[in-house]
Amino acid sequence: MNSTRAHDTIRAVRWNSDRLELIDQRILPATEEYLAYQSADEVARAIKDMVVRGAPAIGVTAAFGVVLAARAAYARAPANWKALLQPDMQALAASRPTAVNLFWALERMQRYIEAIEGDPVPALLAEAQRIQDEDIAANYAMGELGASLMDAPGAVITHCNTGSLATGGYGTALGVIRSAYAQGKVSQVYADETRPWLQGSRLTAWELVRDNIPVKLLADGAAAHLMKQGGVTWAVVGSDRITADGSAANKIGTYSLAVNAKYHGVKFMVVAPTSTVDMSIDDGRKIPIEERDPEELLSVQGKRIAAQGAGAWNPVFDVTPPELIDAIVTERGIVRNPTPEKMLAMMKNG
Ligand code: MRU
Repeated sequence: MNSTRAHDTIRAVRWNSDRLELIDQRILPATEEYLAYQSADEVARAIKDMVVRGAPAIGVTAAFGVVLAARAAYARAPANWKALLQPDMQALAASRPTAVNLFWALERMQRYIEAIEGDPVPALLAEAQRIQDEDIAANYAMGELGASLMDAPGAVITHCNTGSLATGGYGTALGVIRSAYAQGKVSQVYADETRPWLQGSRLTAWELVRDNIPVKLLADGAAAHLMKQGGVTWAVVGSDRITADGSAANKIGTYSLAVNAKYHGVKFMVVAPTSTVDMSIDDGRKIPIEERDPEELLSVQGKRIAAQGAGAWNPVFDVTPPELIDAIVTERGIVRNPTPEKMLAMMKNG
């Protein structure tokens, strides 16, 4: 096993004989448990409830959800299954609004469905598996490209979880960090804890500790202070949707990290496969931003921490404009200082 592959030991989404299995990310790192799914309805609920999360992992999961939907529809009505599975497609599409990988995967499965005759399950299962395998291959390619932007060993800062848990495997931003670490270019990873859902402290730290990559957590509000001390060379983050102008939606707090990085001269890299790029939107401000239950802010693991009577506003993504981004890395190449023209050229490359 080469040193890069050694940092790839986790699969959040896996097909097991006749069912979909998802590691339950709500209870990591205390408990490592896979939940099994046999229907598209349950899969849509799992995405909504964040059993599985992270844009590419949501896309892969939805693709397997379509397999379950088609299996049920074909068993009920072999002559009419394509129409019968549409409500399930809609339930999957309604699960979360911001990560465009969800819609990308559903559209890809739908296009595939149109050409199928007879039992759809083997063909759709193969297509869903291809989506996952292609995502992993894209992550390895982005790992190399992103690492090539880094020079001397330094510390990096990341936000949310963009690793194996958030993708088909290996990771986007965390894939770059894994590859760069394997090449001796990363001395220390700082991971924002990522309030309120704690993807950083629960998930990113868990992945990095398992891979023996040195990680220190910090409160999201400590990032600017860290950057001011010097030593942080890059902020490396993922994305849920990158628009044609080179804006990137990502976990709430990413935009403040980018503003702080610009102020302190820390370079800012966004890493995402082209399944995250939405060329149909010309301006990042038009990206739909999910707002979740205020309880996620008011309570921690079911225990109320906020003052009784206080309300909360809980947008879970924000949008970083292109002028704050030094490089967007996809499997098709690196876009430095993104502009609409450069985004278009990158998308045409491949
Ligand atoms: O709400 P989440 O946990 O699904 O948000 C995930 C993120 O914001 C990730 O940074 C993004 O999906 C990129 S994952 C490779």
